[in-house]
Amino acid sequence: MTYKRPADRYTKKAKSEGFAARSVYKLEEIDRRTKLLRPGLRVLDLGAAPGSWTQYAAPKVGAKGKVVAVDLEPLRVPVGPNVVALVMDALGDLSVLDPYGPFDVVMSDMAPHTSGIAFADAARSEELVERVLDVSERLLVPGGTMVAKIFRGEGFEPLRARMRTLFDEVRLIKPEASRSESVEAFLVGIGRKGPAGAPEGAAKKDAT
Ligand SMILES: C[S@@+](CC[C@H](N)C(=O)[O-])C[C@H]1O[C@@H](n2cnc3c(N)ncnc32)[C@H](O)[C@@H]1O
Repeated sequence: MTYKRPADRYTKKAKSEGFAARSVYKLEEIDRRTKLLRPGLRVLDLGAAPGSWTQYAAPKVGAKGKVVAVDLEPLRVPVGPNVVALVMDALGDLSVLDPYGPFDVVMSDMAPHTSGIAFADAARSEELVERVLDVSERLLVPGGTMVAKIFRGEGFEPLRARMRTLFDEVRLIKPEASRSESVEAFLVGIGRKGPAGAPEGAAKKDAT
């Protein structure tokens, strides 16, 4: 028999506010604390299904912005004209994303199917974060922001060190909506350092 977790206040709130998942309140807190989303930004949402982060981000970036939502599974919510939904494996060929970039924000709520074996689950989560960093190196504009969910394990500090080479500031955020018993947290990279010749984006232009 599969265990069904009782609905907590965030699950009930998400349902009453029409969001596909309680995860939306993690993004809301990250947005509040880091000023992540604003009109006109181009956002890559990795691990987007069922769709609450996309539902939150799309109206925030508005008609002049866009959200490219990527997941192994299709979104389970209707989306507006500023959203492109792609069913694909983020561990696969990243060049597929090139025509949709560059991005001002790369955010990931990707999580592996958990096995209950903590070190194995952490290793698979860290592999996903490595991928988010690969995408950010490839498609995030100078000045842009990266957010990635991580299950903290042995690979956490090397990953944080890699992020520090790419971003001016790296924060670790454990949102209130993240269950206290969960090892998950969110690495936030603020201010992507710009390699010479990197594409200029809305994030960079707004800063000048
Ligand atoms: C916690 S859910 C995301 C919830 C979503 N942010 C929302 O608010 O509705 C994690 C998602 O990561 C996706 N995922 C895991 N591995 C992936 C991969 N390699 N490529 C793309 N998506 C992946 C899963 O399919 C799952 O939908």
